[in-house]
Amino acid sequence: MCMFQNIYGLDLGTYEIKVYDAKREFIWKEKNVVAKKNGRIYAAGDDAWVMYEKTPPGIAVEFPMQSGAIARFDDMQQLLVELLKKERPFSAGAEYLVAVPTDVTEVEKRAFYDLVSHSSARAKSVRIAERGIVEAIGLGMDIFHTEGAFVIDMGGGVTELSVLSYGGLVMNRLLKTGGIHLDLAIQNMVRHNLDFLIGKRTAEMLRMDFGVFGDETAMALDIPGRDLLTGLPRYRGIPTGMVRTTVKEVLGECMESIRSMYERTPPHVRKGIEKNGIYLTGGLAHLKELSTYMQEATGLKVKTTPRPEFCVVEGLQKIIEKKQDYRKLTYAMLDEDYRWLR
Ligand SMILES: Nc1ncnc2c1ncn2[C@@H]1O[C@H](COP(=O)(O)OP(=O)(O)OP(=O)(O)O)[C@@H](O)[C@H]1O
Ligand SMILES: [Mg+2]
Repeated sequence: MCMFQNIYGLDLGTYEIKVYDAKREFIWKEKNVVAKKNGRIYAAGDDAWVMYEKTPPGIAVEFPMQSGAIARFDDMQQLLVELLKKERPFSAGAEYLVAVPTDVTEVEKRAFYDLVSHSSARAKSVRIAERGIVEAIGLGMDIFHTEGAFVIDMGGGVTELSVLSYGGLVMNRLLKTGGIHLDLAIQNMVRHNLDFLIGKRTAEMLRMDFGVFGDETAMALDIPGRDLLTGLPRYRGIPTGMVRTTVKEVLGECMESIRSMYERTPPHVRKGIEKNGIYLTGGLAHLKELSTYMQEATGLKVKTTPRPEFCVVEGLQKIIEKKQDYRKLTYAMLDEDYRWLR
């Protein structure tokens, strides 16, 4: 077991950072946001999130990650170190295992490694692992003996499609669709159709409450916003049907990509997927009836898990706990181990 080992497993999500702290055998998460004042970090993580869309002038709240990649390197680096130290015992010189997306450029992938290895946390060693594989381990799959599996991670900023077979990735694609895009679409829909301005957090709340399906179409939810005709703040009813149609429009493209990847899957791998179904992970898997919708759209069984947003970090935990079994799935990204112009 991993008792007293100073190792961190990192899943840097676009929306939330998830960390496994092996020394304390503990998983935590925080919003992946910084609040900045005069160019310097003023608040980090959950403390910055409470200021989102509510900030006084002079404070800007920003997401350092975009579409699954590190968009603001310095902010991300500082944020990570702040969070590792925040209200938690932290010792420099730890080992790190970082989950990285597969379908990004090598420079973007390398950035995950550099972020940790050149940070003030003074990492003793940094290894990376492909996120699609890590997730399958997090789901409890015996990946080395599984003929075919299809894992779909729908997160805050991206949707990652991974087809696996016998411990390797057969196909992987990163789609730039996630919760943030659903919220933006809802926000735009409300503005155009109802002349009403709502924040992204309000849009997120609407989406969480309404889900994708359901037959109570006449329902409406009263939410706060600003009336664009009068310019005044007030409450307004937003019809359920409108939100659902918008959500389905955005998800439609993802369903198309899932179908197309499945069609391109080699027959023997497909046989395994048919038997096991699709595994749906990521925070969006909480969305009411998303799995039913996906099942109808793809014709495949869809399974979810009780803590879908933690699937990656739980996979990192398993890899750290069973180092010997999984060693060949992690890379040091040093030149001799990892040919990064593969
Ligand atoms: N109960 C819920 N109902 C609906 N959506 C939810 C729920 N809980 C979380 N989400 C959504 O899940 C998304 C975050 O998921 P997750 O934590 O997997 O993303 P991430 O890993 O940070 O981002 P990514 O993997 O895209 O880089 C957010 O858009 C959030 O609104
Ligand atoms: Mg994620």
